[in-house]
Amino acid sequence: MEPVRVSTAYLPAASGGSLSPRRSSSTVSAVDLIPPSMPDIRAAAWRIAPYTVRTPVHEWRSPAVEARFVRPANLHLKLELFQRTGTFKARGAINNVLALDENARRRGVTAISAGNHAIAAAYAAACVGASAKVVMLATANPARVAAAKHFGAEILTAPDGATGFQMVEEIVRTEGRTFIHPFEGPRVTAATATCGLEFHEQVAGLDAVVVPIGAGGLCSGVATVTKLLDPKCRVYGVEPEATQVMTKSLAAGSAQHIGQVTTIADSLAPPMTTPYVFEMCCRSVDEVVLVSDDEMAAAAAILFAEMKLVVEAAGAASTAGAFGPLRAKLAGKRVGLIVCGTNIDADSHHRLVVRGQQALAAGVLAP
Ligand SMILES: Cc1ncc(COP(=O)(O)O)c(C=O)c1O
Repeated sequence: MEPVRVSTAYLPAASGGSLSPRRSSSTVSAVDLIPPSMPDIRAAAWRIAPYTVRTPVHEWRSPAVEARFVRPANLHLKLELFQRTGTFKARGAINNVLALDENARRRGVTAISAGNHAIAAAYAAACVGASAKVVMLATANPARVAAAKHFGAEILTAPDGATGFQMVEEIVRTEGRTFIHPFEGPRVTAATATCGLEFHEQVAGLDAVVVPIGAGGLCSGVATVTKLLDPKCRVYGVEPEATQVMTKSLAAGSAQHIGQVTTIADSLAPPMTTPYVFEMCCRSVDEVVLVSDDEMAAAAAILFAEMKLVVEAAGAASTAGAFGPLRAKLAGKRVGLIVCGTNIDADSHHRLVVRGQQALAAGVLAP
């Protein structure tokens, strides 16, 4: 598939972040790519508040932190794994579903997902009394399929992503359901920004925020609100070495389609990023770093051993970034880590932690 081309003509001269991709010619209009303003983000926060949790923040002091970060560095965990549905995805799905008029709600929604967005779309639909017909990939974890069903969604199974997208298009065409996008568009970015807004309200004076990146929907919002509130606060994105969707898009100067990739962090493995989130990340993210599967497993093992947190691999990516490639940059800083998800069954979590313990023993993320 051809990469989507994105214009730079409308971009403001100065961006808060320091990513500077080579950009190419336009097929997307300027008006489509306006970032959410502070009033947009506050309005989204107000809209989704009845259906979401203001997730807690915990200052992380433990042997693992003390061994790696000499004080006065301090780490704060935004425990977004305690969000409704187990991930931040509920924020974007609800913001999209709340925008539907009565007719659209009556026709219901559809979505495609390997897991967490399916649960979020099902939950969001249930919140407004709409039905959800969701296509999940055959590889989706059964626990996630069960969670989506729990919220009343009808689940269809697709053998692969390409077939899944065809199925969703057919559902939209024949049933008039609204497609709820997992990461693209201003409503998702405004909604994920509410997570960042809460974080800055809960911890004053953060020097840096570290955010996992799949396609960039979460990071686009957290970065946008961070730069609106405090342009000096650095925003670091963390993505798996195995995917590099954002890294490759930055190198190419446009949102890239990379196809199917495999990583332990299945939630961070979308086949592409898209124009809006890509542009928002370009404007407001300072740097994107890569972590290996072993580093994420090691971070998950540390989060379990020292914080008693059960995170899926994606939820450990920010910790892996902070303890790994970002450690020197975060030394002495006041740092926020977004712990974004927990949708993992007991057996898979056990395997993740055992792999992490082995990686730690082999020196991965060593102090
Ligand atoms: C738990 C979790 N973390 C991170 C991500 C990545 O989010 P994004 O694609 O918005 O970058 C996802 C996406 O589904 C997720 O479920």
